[in-house]
Amino acid sequence: MDLTKLHNLLDSLTLQEKIGQLVQLSGEFFDATDISLGPQRQLGITQETVDLAGSVLNVAGARDVRRLQAAHLKKGRHPIPLLFMADVIYGYKTVYPIPLGIGATWNPDLVEQAYVNAADEARAAGLHVSFAPMVDLVRDPRWGRVLESTGEDPYLNSRFAAAMVRGLQKNLAAGDGVISCVKHIAAYGAAEAGREYNPADVSTPSLFQDYLPAYKAAVDAGVKMAMTSLTTLNGVPATADKWLLQNILRDRWGFTGLAISDYASIYELIQHGFAQDPTDAASKAIDAGVDIDMKSPCYATGLQPLVTSSRLSEEKINTAAWRVLKLKNELGLFEDPYGGTTEEKEHTRLLTPEKRSLARDLSRQALVLLKNDADILPLDSSANQRIALIGPYADEQKMLGLWAVHGDPQDTVTIKAGFADYLAPQQLQTAKGTDVIRDRLMFTGMGLAEEQINQTISPAADEQKNRSEALETAKNADVIVFAAGEHTLQSGEAGSRTRLRLPDNQRQLLAELRKLNKPIVLIVISGRPLVLTDVQDQADAILQAWFPGTEGGHAIADVIFGRYNPTGRLTMTFPYDEGQLPLYYNHLNTGRPADKNHPTRFVSRYIDAPNKPLYPFGYGLSYGSVQYGELKLDSDTLAAAGRDELTAAISVTNTGTVPREETVQFYIHDQVASIVQPVKRLIGFQKVPVQPGETKTAALTITPDMLSFANRDGEFITEPGMFDLFAGPNSQDVHQTSFSLTE
Ligand code: GLC
Repeated sequence: MDLTKLHNLLDSLTLQEKIGQLVQLSGEFFDATDISLGPQRQLGITQETVDLAGSVLNVAGARDVRRLQAAHLKKGRHPIPLLFMADVIYGYKTVYPIPLGIGATWNPDLVEQAYVNAADEARAAGLHVSFAPMVDLVRDPRWGRVLESTGEDPYLNSRFAAAMVRGLQKNLAAGDGVISCVKHIAAYGAAEAGREYNPADVSTPSLFQDYLPAYKAAVDAGVKMAMTSLTTLNGVPATADKWLLQNILRDRWGFTGLAISDYASIYELIQHGFAQDPTDAASKAIDAGVDIDMKSPCYATGLQPLVTSSRLSEEKINTAAWRVLKLKNELGLFEDPYGGTTEEKEHTRLLTPEKRSLARDLSRQALVLLKNDADILPLDSSANQRIALIGPYADEQKMLGLWAVHGDPQDTVTIKAGFADYLAPQQLQTAKGTDVIRDRLMFTGMGLAEEQINQTISPAADEQKNRSEALETAKNADVIVFAAGEHTLQSGEAGSRTRLRLPDNQRQLLAELRKLNKPIVLIVISGRPLVLTDVQDQADAILQAWFPGTEGGHAIADVIFGRYNPTGRLTMTFPYDEGQLPLYYNHLNTGRPADKNHPTRFVSRYIDAPNKPLYPFGYGLSYGSVQYGELKLDSDTLAAAGRDELTAAISVTNTGTVPREETVQFYIHDQVASIVQPVKRLIGFQKVPVQPGETKTAALTITPDMLSFANRDGEFITEPGMFDLFAGPNSQDVHQTSFSLTE
C-alpha cells in the first residue's frame, strides 16, 4: 500500500482502533495454544480488545496463522492484518546451538547465513517478526539467560548482533525474511548476582563501553524492532526509561523502528514501584516510547481514558500506531495478509537437508575442546576400539535448550546416532548410567507436576540398575565417552543457579568410571559455563558442546572422530569457582593487582581461591600443534588526527600433521586514561586456516577510533598515550608489543 493510502487508513481509525494496534496478546486469546514462557495472569481483556488487537505472541505454523488471520480480518471496521511475532532466537525448526555456542564459532559470516535460513523457516511458518537477536552482554553464568547471549565481549557481540539482524531481514522483500527485534534494551545481562529479573546498576562508562555497543550494532545493521528489558537500569525500569528509549535509542543512534515491551513489563512497572496502577503504567510507557504492550492490559484499558481526559496527547498514539501499520505494510500484509505462508510452503522449507547441513557445520564450529591430554582425541574409528558411550546425554534428543520453543526434539540427532555413523555396531555400547538430574525439589520448585517429574527422575531401583549396567559396559570398553551436563530447565529464562557443578549423581558415576583406569572423554551439554574444576581431572579430554541443537549428535561425532578439527573458542569465561563471579577477561587492573610485583596479602585476591578462571575468554584447543611468531607493527606510533593507521601482524605456523584453523585474537590495553581501561580489550580477530607445515600471517589494521573509550558522559573519546597490543590464540597466552597514540 502506498504511504498516502496508509496515512489515510490511520486517519480513518478511531482512537480505540488505533490503541488496538498497540496491543499484543498470546495464542489463547485467539483460540490457539499458548506456548509463550512467562507468568500467566488474568488480564481483564475483553473480546473487543482481542478483535482490535494488532499482533499475536508466539503462534506459528501455516495452518494456525492462516486460521487466526482469516478470522481476525472479519472483525472490526477495517481488515487490518495481525502481525505474528515469536522467539526464533537460534533457529526455528532446524535448531542451532545456543547463541553462547554460536558465539564460540567466531564466524559472523556463517551465522548470518544461518539466520537467513532461520528466517526462511520462520516466515514459511507464518511468522513476521522474530524476537532476536538477544545481544545482552553477560559476565555471570549464574544467570540462566547467558544461554541466549554470544558472550562477554562488546566487540564480538556487536559483530554477531549485526550478522543476525542482517540474516533475519535479508530476504524481507522476497517474502522469505522476518523483522528482527533486538533485545533486551538495556543491560539485562547485568542483573545483580546473576539472579533473574534482578536490578542492573551500571556506571555510565561501562554502560556505553560494554553493555550498549551490541544494541547499537543491531540498529546500525538496520534492525526494525527493539524490545525493552524486564529489569531496572540504574533505578529506572527500562520499559519506561525515556532517556534510554528516546534520547539514546532514537535520538543518539537514529533508530526509527518500533519498540515493544517485554512480556507484561508495562504491567510490572507497578511491581517495580514505578507506577501506581495500569493506567499510570500505560502513561509512563507510551511517554517513554514503547509502541506495543506485550501481554498486559495497560494499553488496552489505560490509554483511552488518558487521551479523553487530556492527560495524554493522541499524537503519541498516532505515532505508535503509525509504526505498527508501517511495519505491516513493509511486510506486504495489506496485499497478502498471510505473508505468503501456506502449509505446502512450510513443508518444503523446514528441516531441509541443506538447512540441516548448515546447522551441522555451525554446531561443529560451536564445539570447544577444553582439554585433550595425550591427544586422546580424535578417536580412530578404524582402530577397532570398543567405545562405551555412557551418560544421560548419550542417547538423549532433548539437546535444544530452553528457547528452542518451535524446535522438536524428535528431529534431533543424538550423540549415539552420530557415533553410529562412524562405528561398527560391535564397536559401540551405550548406557544411560544415571538421570540428567535427580533433584526432585528443583522441579517441584518450578511447578512441574508429579508425572512430569517422574518422567525425568527414575525410581531408585532403576537408577541403581542403570549405574550397574553403565559400569559393566565401561569395563568391557577401550575408551569411555561420558555425555553429561545440565537439564534444559536448569538454564534459560528464570534458570538462575548458585552452584554450577555437574549434578551430584553424574559426578558420582564419573568418579566410579574413573576408577576403571580407562581413557575418558567428557562431553558437556549445558546452557552456560559450568564449574568443571572438580571433574577436570576425572577426564582426559573435555568437549564443551552447549545445547548443540538439531544436528548436535552429528557435529559432536564429527569432532570426536576427527572429521572436523575443533575451532571453537570461548566467548564467556569458565570460572574456577562460583565464588569468583562475576568473572570476565576485560576487567580493570585495580591499584593492587595480584601479580608478582606486589606482596602476597594486601593485593586484589581471594585467600581461598585463585583469581584466574579455569578456562579464559578466547580459549579452545584444536588437534595438532601451532606456533605463533613475533607480533610486529609497521610503525610504533599512530597519529590520532587524520586518517592514520597502524598494521599489526603475527605469523602462525602449523607445526602439526593435520590441517587446522586458528582464530588469531588481537587485544589492546590503554596504559593511562582518564577513565581506567581494562587490562585487555578485543579489537579484532582473523580466522587463519593453515595446512601442516604452512605459515600464514594474521594482520589487523588499527585506527584511532578503535582505541576510543567511553567517558563519564557516555561519549567516546581517544586520548594520546601508550597502548599495549596483544595477539594470540586466546586472551591469556599472548604475544605483546606496544605503540603510542600521538595528538
Ligand atoms: C520473555 C522474554 C523475551 C521474549 C518474550 C516473548 O519473557 O524475556 O526475551 O521474547 O518473553 O516470549
